[in-house]
Amino acid sequence: MNSLDALIDTAADTEVVSRSASALQRQLQPLGKTGAMARKVEDLLHGVPLGHPVHSVLTDLTIGLYTSTFFLDLLELFDTNEERASISDGFLLGGLLSAVPTIITGVADWKDSEGRTRNLGLIHAALNATANLCYLGAYVSRKRSRGVRLALAFAGATVMTAAAYLGGRMVYREKFGANHSQPPLRLETWTPVLPVQELEDNTPHRVVIHNSKVLLYKEDDVIYATQEVCPHFGGPLSEGKVHSLTVTCPWHQSVFDLQDGSVIHGPSCYPLQTFEVSVLDNMVCIRTTRK
Ligand code: FES
Repeated sequence: MNSLDALIDTAADTEVVSRSASALQRQLQPLGKTGAMARKVEDLLHGVPLGHPVHSVLTDLTIGLYTSTFFLDLLELFDTNEERASISDGFLLGGLLSAVPTIITGVADWKDSEGRTRNLGLIHAALNATANLCYLGAYVSRKRSRGVRLALAFAGATVMTAAAYLGGRMVYREKFGANHSQPPLRLETWTPVLPVQELEDNTPHRVVIHNSKVLLYKEDDVIYATQEVCPHFGGPLSEGKVHSLTVTCPWHQSVFDLQDGSVIHGPSCYPLQTFEVSVLDNMVCIRTTRK
């Protein structure tokens, strides 16, 4: 681990960061969880229709616009050119405008995060807020003082780079926004997993097969089987509620269709692996769904 990561970890583990993150999350978490319209909006913010977190797409746009400003501003240090300065201001305005949906989608994802990722996310947000305030100040001061405009934009670029480093670490090391499913279970032949008499009606049941957790659910004499680990943050779906053949994760209320594993509601963007089910010799047997 390099010294920058060690510094980040120390900050993330402090009491003040941990408490602030948890208090803020408690305020934000109920948002988007009640009401059909609120859930639809939240699904859009998470990127459910895209099958991929939308925040990471928007960050590329915002960082790209701010980076364009940065290079044009660098040239301005050596040679003043009004046309180039106004193009740079245009990129700066574009960055500020695209930062709005970027921040909103980031907050939507963060409010359903866990543990250290949650603390790192708060630091990431604070750095980005500082960078955006610098950029806003740069844009406001562009007509009054070119020197102040450039100084604030360079300060914004420095802080934004730190925020982007932290964002990358959250994704690649802490797996924020990644699929937390176990590796797909490949069962080419019928594999017995449970005596059928042990599977109660209308009660989610977890079995472990080849180190993978599988969810079994029986209703009206039909048995459904999906992966048991929630793709969002690894929540235990066997402890979730089942209603109308959908299962709700107990951790952040992602909802999945038990018949085909599709996502009904986020925060998860990723569907569940499903299995074909048969009862052979009084044993529930499953195999990988053949498309
Ligand atoms: S772990 Fe977050 S919704 Fe399941």
